[in-house]
Amino acid sequence: MHSDVLRAINVQINSEFSAWYQYLAMAAFCEREKFTGAARWLKAQSVEEYQHGMKLFDFVLARNGVVELTAIQQPEREFESFGEVFESALRQEQAVTEQINSLYELAFKSKGFIEMTELQWFLTEQVEEEKSAREWVARFRLVGDDPGSLLDLDRELGQRATPPAAAGGKV
Ligand code: FEO
Repeated sequence: MHSDVLRAINVQINSEFSAWYQYLAMAAFCEREKFTGAARWLKAQSVEEYQHGMKLFDFVLARNGVVELTAIQQPEREFESFGEVFESALRQEQAVTEQINSLYELAFKSKGFIEMTELQWFLTEQVEEEKSAREWVARFRLVGDDPGSLLDLDRELGQRATPPAAAGGKV
């Protein structure tokens, strides 16, 4: 694998694990505030991010590359509102999409066809991740501070299915 591409994939592994940690912090905030449906949704999302990190981790090893795990930055732990949690999630997903786009461009320029194939899964996944976050943001903006409507949203968020358990990622 081209060394620049390998370095960039290692950076992306860190981003995915950072997203895992950030969603976990959001889940902790929501659960502390007894917004338990949202906490369940966010825990499920954190498991997905962990799986994204592991998918790249396994890919690098399968390509006989060196995985370089680096420090995960401390996540935001306090939020002004439940709506702000999801606004923040959307910003995070948009940032990840930009990162994957840049990574794909780098793989393309380096003629890393195998890496491009792997990254295509992530590009498609980002469409869904952004769409989902954008829809929740729109609904939080719509209900504003109305307690009854917020509880309805919480109930609906709590219906999210738990992803298949990953090692260490049970929800
Ligand atoms: Fe792994 Fe939500 O991007």
